Amino acid sequence: MYRSRLEGKLDENTLEFLSSISDDFQIAQYDILGSQAHTLMLLENKIITKAEAEKILGALERLKKENFSEKSEAEDIHELIESLVIKKAGKEAGGKMHTARSRNDQVALDIRMKIRDDVNIVCFFLNEVISTLIQLAEKHQNTIMPLYTHLQQAQVGLFSHFLLAYADALFRDLDRFYVAYGRINESPLGAGPVGGTSIPIDRQFTAKMLGFKGLVENSIDATSSRDFVAEYVGNSSILMTNLSRMAEDFIIWSTSEFSFLELSDKFTSTSSVMPQKKNPDILELIRGKTAQVIGYQMAILSNLKGLPSGYNRDLQQIKVSIWPTSKIVISSLIVVNSLLKTMTVNEKKLRQAIDGGFS
Ligand code: ARG
Repeated sequence: MYRSRLEGKLDENTLEFLSSISDDFQIAQYDILGSQAHTLMLLENKIITKAEAEKILGALERLKKENFSEKSEAEDIHELIESLVIKKAGKEAGGKMHTARSRNDQVALDIRMKIRDDVNIVCFFLNEVISTLIQLAEKHQNTIMPLYTHLQQAQVGLFSHFLLAYADALFRDLDRFYVAYGRINESPLGAGPVGGTSIPIDRQFTAKMLGFKGLVENSIDATSSRDFVAEYVGNSSILMTNLSRMAEDFIIWSTSEFSFLELSDKFTSTSSVMPQKKNPDILELIRGKTAQVIGYQMAILSNLKGLPSGYNRDLQQIKVSIWPTSKIVISSLIVVNSLLKTMTVNEKKLRQAIDGGFS
C-alpha cells in the first residue's frame, strides 16, 4: 500500500540506504502485538467489521511464527508486515488494518515495548549482581586491605567496604531504570502521523491491552520525542561506567604485582606466544564495551538535538543505538556476576599489603 501512489520503484542501493528492515527484526513481534491490539480497538469501535477483524487477526497470529529475515523489498517492518497481512487476509480486509494509524505512532510504540522488556531484563540481572556483591561482602567482613586515593595507600579498610561501594552504585542504577520505566511505559498509539486522527478511536483501549500505564498525551510529543530512548541508553551508559570502574579495580588487583584477586580460568584468556599469561580480557572488554555504549548515547543526543518537531526520518537511526546497548548491558551483567562468583580473594596478600605502608 505504502508506495502504490508512486510511479517508480526504488533502485537497489537507494532501498538499501533507506530501509531499516535489518534493524527492525528486533521489533517485529512488538509490531504484530501492537497491530493486534489496534485491530481489536478498530472492531470494538465499529470502525471495521467482525469478519474483517477476524481475517486480520488470523493473519497476524500466523505471522508470529514467520521468519522475517529473508531479503525483502520493504522499507521497514511495518510495511513488510502490512503487505504480508494483505497477502494472507486479502486487500479488502487486510488493507484496513492500518486505519487511523501511522507508521509514526507505530514505530514509537514498538520501540517503547522493546525497551520496556529490555529494562525488565536489565533490572533482573542487575539485581543478581547486587545480591552477589552483598553475599561476597558478608563473607569478607574481616578481610583487611588498604583503601586507596590516587591509587596510593590511604587508610586501612575492609574488602567488604569496597564490595558494598559497588553494590550501592549499582543500586542507584537499578533505581534509575525503575524510575525511567514509568516514563517509557506510556502508549503513543493513536497519535497518528503527528496530529492524531479524526476517526473516533479509543487510545485508552490499546494502551490498556498492551499493558501501558497511560498515554503519551500530546500527539506531537508522542511521535517526535525519543527522550525515553536517551534516558534508557543514558542510564545504560552510567551503569556501564560503574561496571567499568569495578573492572578497572579488578584488573589492577589481579596483576602479579598486586595479586589480591585471582580470576577463574573460565574468565581469562591466555596469550598465543606467552603461555605464562592469564589476561583479564573479560574485564577489559567491559571497559571497551562501556566506551561503545557511551558512543551510542552521544549518537542519540546528536541525532535529536536539531530535529524540528514532528517525525523526521533521522529518527530511524535512533534504533541502531538501542539494540546493541541492551545486548552489551545484559551480557556484561551476566559475565560480571559469574566472574564475581568464581574469583578467588587472596586474603593474605590483602592483609600483607598494609604492612609495608604507613596507612
Ligand atoms: N522506518 C521508520 C522508522 O524506523 C518508520 C516510520 C516511517 N515514517 C515515515 N513517515 N516515513 O522510523
